[in-house]
Amino acid sequence: MATKRVTVTDPASETSTELPVLEGSLGTPVIDIQKLTKELGYFSYDPGFVSTASCQSAITYIDGEQGILLYRGYPIEQLAQQSTFLEVAHLLIFGELPKPAELSAFAAEIKREAMIHETLRKFFDGFQYDAHPMAMMVGVVGSLSAFYHSELDMTDPEHRRISAIRLLAKMPTIATACYRHSVGLPFVYPRGDLGYCENFLNMMFSLPSLQYSGDTQWYLDPLASEALSLLFILHADHEQNASTSTVRLASSTGANPYACISAGIAALWGPAHGGANEAVLGMLNEIGHPDRIPEYIRRAKDKNDPFRLMGFGHRIYKNYDPRAMIIRKACHAVLERFSQSDPLFDLAMALEEMALNDDYFIEKRLYPNVDFYSGIIYKALNIPVNMFTVMFALARTAGWVAHWLELKSDPKQKIGRPRQLYVGAPRRDYVSQDRR
Ligand code: CMC
Repeated sequence: MATKRVTVTDPASETSTELPVLEGSLGTPVIDIQKLTKELGYFSYDPGFVSTASCQSAITYIDGEQGILLYRGYPIEQLAQQSTFLEVAHLLIFGELPKPAELSAFAAEIKREAMIHETLRKFFDGFQYDAHPMAMMVGVVGSLSAFYHSELDMTDPEHRRISAIRLLAKMPTIATACYRHSVGLPFVYPRGDLGYCENFLNMMFSLPSLQYSGDTQWYLDPLASEALSLLFILHADHEQNASTSTVRLASSTGANPYACISAGIAALWGPAHGGANEAVLGMLNEIGHPDRIPEYIRRAKDKNDPFRLMGFGHRIYKNYDPRAMIIRKACHAVLERFSQSDPLFDLAMALEEMALNDDYFIEKRLYPNVDFYSGIIYKALNIPVNMFTVMFALARTAGWVAHWLELKSDPKQKIGRPRQLYVGAPRRDYVSQDRR
């Protein structure tokens, strides 16, 4: 596979080594540095993995310069326009778009696995009513490992497949239970007659009074589940992002898959990652009026001010985030149907325009990312702000389990164990307390 080589020379010891250059099917080639330490006696240093590929993967490809995102080779724009979230989940997990019979079987299995154990439902009672739903997600998804462990044989591909399906299937049930617990409403069971996104909306919003009073069950409007499916597709995977890498690192030790996904949820929660969608809404509310935008742009540029424009910037996308473009377009239709207009959407557009014309943002190549607009749609669908990152976690579960399965079947897989540059005290001797 390696046709090219690069030579690294250490002038101090006058030794050289030839390192193979690996070419993937698309994208930047990588230098295989595995023998660097053995041959030259150095480690490499790359905080934040800015230049380091941590694995080989065949799931998702991103070209940040061109704004290209492919799931298993298919452009995100085509999937967003023509497919459903379950089709995309099948594509990510099994590598191919499902044929009609495969999709029916997949959907049926997801429905069968959507219930959660009654004992797991009691876990929620341990949380305060005001616990953040992401805190509950971390705890409850992690505790699935207490329910599915004894029969798990991770060397068996079928056991791994079932674990992946279970995670995807139970995520909407757990996510909506987090919400209902926080507002003191009874949990709603998944229904066999509803699709994945419809079921989510029904478990979130269904009330007996709505069903029996003849009031509109707006959440069963097909546009609501279509909008949700679109957002889930856009959030489903993003190659080796922080949470996926966390899932991979945890999985590399052979840990229980449910615990690994819980680790991914924890990593996603931060405002630099999936927590940004909640932070964007907080920021827009704080700005409040277009007149105040210049003040916030100035703050974002001030090195002495920790404030950043949330929903702006990306490690990989340097021209535009294709997901943000798709969501921006979808906002209009969703707002029109569910909330007429939203001043926050107008504010977001004004903020985007001002930032995109500002030298600082142009020079640093900072563009709106997927989270800049996703919250506007979630808000129009009545999803509470503190549930936004939960929505992201739910969708990203498709990607997490796809990467988990890929790692588990990779013969080159090793425990993830980075090196470090130690900068602490050199060796010193213990001095007893009375002599200090
Ligand atoms: N507002 C103001 N300045 C920014 C911003 C921002 N949102 N993002 C980056 N910068 C500046 C940063 O200060 C730095 O300046 P300098 O070169 O003078 O030090 C430069 O741009 C490069 O930033 P960085 O932090 O080194 O870039 P990164 O690749 O390490 O971080 C990021 C990427 C997404 C964490 C960052 O852009 C950020 O914090 N954005 C806001 C949070 C956000 O929207 N996160 C969601 C990401 S998309 C969803 C997902 O996939 O997780």
